[in-house]
Amino acid sequence: MHLLSIDSLSDAQVALILDEGARWFEYNRQPRRNSKRLDGLTVINAFFENSTRTLLSFEIAAKRLGAQVVVMQVERSSIKKGETLEDTARTLNAMRPDALVIRHGTSGAPGTVAALMDCPVINGGDGIGEHPTQALLDAATIRHRFGHVAGLRIAICGDLKHSRVARSNIKLLRRLGADLRLAGPPSLMPDDLPACDIDQAVDGAEVVMMLRVQRERMTEDLGDAPGEYLDRYGLTAARLAKATPHAAIMHPGPINRGVEIEGDLADDPARSLIILQVEMGVAVRMACLDLLTAERVA
Ligand code: NCD
Repeated sequence: MHLLSIDSLSDAQVALILDEGARWFEYNRQPRRNSKRLDGLTVINAFFENSTRTLLSFEIAAKRLGAQVVVMQVERSSIKKGETLEDTARTLNAMRPDALVIRHGTSGAPGTVAALMDCPVINGGDGIGEHPTQALLDAATIRHRFGHVAGLRIAICGDLKHSRVARSNIKLLRRLGADLRLAGPPSLMPDDLPACDIDQAVDGAEVVMMLRVQRERMTEDLGDAPGEYLDRYGLTAARLAKATPHAAIMHPGPINRGVEIEGDLADDPARSLIILQVEMGVAVRMACLDLLTAERVA
């Protein structure tokens, strides 16, 4: 079994990951963790795109479960000598890993690799495709705060066009019964998604999830003056006042302070779940690695 998309998971598997993630979250807060669930297994992390949270949390997750973790140094690899992705996959497979986590700039690349591997492959973000473990950790974070996802009004705002996080979250949060409102600049909204104005999206929301403007994936300049994006499309205190009084702020990170979100809002301990999302990321990735490697340990 691979975890390439939210569609890779049955409803029962989603429920299991969220429940187990909540359990590992508590476990991780203990002073010493010595789980041996993945003892004797090797996990390879191959990140062809930059990452702080996803890369480190997969490494910590695998190590906390007792696995041996190898991080492929893409910059120093034979990719730089012209090796194809397929040949790299065959090479990694020959080393008999028990799981492979891959991030790649091309949408669909994890599926290409998975077809050539004998072990489970986890998509850690592919181009503008999907980022399933981010959506799972976001759902787990929402459940931690609100106890449930069903029926919550959740606004997802910003650069939806380039956001694999949004794509996975739309699938997962809808499946879990959330009432989603999507908003962003017209040029950064995918054609197939119904959008509204950010003020309408935030109105009455219980969760406001902001997305980074992914200028590195854009071919054209947005043409915005300094401060203009925040003013027109970002989360400001004035905008947040339209949400419910207890509304939570989320962001997958990395945040661009003063662009899609006011810095003070990101830091507000009463409202912001951004740091909690990072902590939940380790726990949920433990649950994913455990589920996917279960048959190898049995
Ligand atoms: C995101 C990503 O890489 O897709 N970050 C993450 O994994 N937490 C979002 C982004 O880069 O803006």
